[in-house]
Amino acid sequence: MQVVEESGPESALALAELPEPEPSHMLTPGEGVVVEVHCAGVSFPELLQTRGQYQMKPELPFVPGSEVAGVVRSAPNGSGLAEGDRVAAFCALGGFAESAVAPAFFTFPLSPELEMGQGAGLILNYHTAYFALVLRGRLKEGETELMHGAAGGVGTASLQVARATGARTIALVSSEEKHDVAEQAGADAVVRVGENWKDEVKELSGGGVDVVLDPVGGDRFTDSLRSLREDGRLVVVGFTGGAIPEVRVNRLLLGNTEVVGAGWGAYVMGKPDLNREIGAEVSRMVDAGFIRPIVGARFPLEQAAEALKVLDERRATGKVVLDVRPT
Ligand SMILES: NC(=O)c1ccc[n+]([C@@H]2O[C@H](COP(=O)([O-])OP(=O)(O)OC[C@H]3O[C@@H](n4cnc5c(N)ncnc54)[C@H](OP(=O)(O)O)[C@@H]3O)[C@@H](O)[C@H]2O)c1
Repeated sequence: MQVVEESGPESALALAELPEPEPSHMLTPGEGVVVEVHCAGVSFPELLQTRGQYQMKPELPFVPGSEVAGVVRSAPNGSGLAEGDRVAAFCALGGFAESAVAPAFFTFPLSPELEMGQGAGLILNYHTAYFALVLRGRLKEGETELMHGAAGGVGTASLQVARATGARTIALVSSEEKHDVAEQAGADAVVRVGENWKDEVKELSGGGVDVVLDPVGGDRFTDSLRSLREDGRLVVVGFTGGAIPEVRVNRLLLGNTEVVGAGWGAYVMGKPDLNREIGAEVSRMVDAGFIRPIVGARFPLEQAAEALKVLDERRATGKVVLDVRPT
């Protein structure tokens, strides 16, 4: 499935017959793991790419798709991977296809506990959640996290990673259906976005939370800062709400709080050892039963446009997935 024009999810995509990819990835030229794709994860970068609005702008036409789950066809020597292994792989591009190529350091064995659809939702969301909560937000056992957009991909992943860290979680969502999804993801408390969400959060947390994880931005930002307790950290992850908030820094001084940026992709891209370290932590959390990716809408590859519209129209819960071949 290729992006052939930058006209939005309705019309930007077209199916094409392409040759098998070479075992080479742009991040590891001349080397790469070739994966027979079973499921492809669908996320905001793909949606933005159909409009030419993502920071990475490949030449048209190109195959989008940043992550997949499947079976290894070939792997570089010394990668620890072999033909036939079930894996989750972050390919950055090229995932909406029957075969994709990923760097070895971005390819991880997939636990038998997880089906391929869950594997396609493992890297972007869970690695981001670990990076944002633990490495950037310094979330610790016994602390409380407030999660915006809690029923979404990053949201459900972060609720599970926070629990695995021993933290308590408060989920903020916009609908009854999303309330149920946040509970399913393991939220300790769920609050509906509305006039008084900040007061509810303050009450539930006994005066304020330690970490706010915010993939939404927009007009919630000031109330997020007000929801922090002393020493609290607000971690900025994205702007699904549209507007990029501005902060009056006197609030940070008055509250003794911090605003922290967390851009997973750019940070980890050139750091293979850090990727392996995060992968090992995520695996440990899968094995301990804390991580079970929640798959929401599923579509066949041919209906990739429909999948992108689910994200665009704020209807997504958990991870949106394309089934590329029957598993
Ligand atoms: N910084 C990083 O490293 C990193 C990594 C991965 C993803 N991201 C970013 O994180 C954001 C969330 O990704 P995701 O995969 O979790 O998306 P998602 O599954 O669609 O969830 C996003 C949530 O944002 C909320 N939202 C509020 N206003 C919205 C609007 N106008 N349109 C759509 N959603 C809206 C929705 O929750 P309610 O309806 O409950 O409010 C929704 O559930 C994206 O911007 C993505 O690019 C950043």
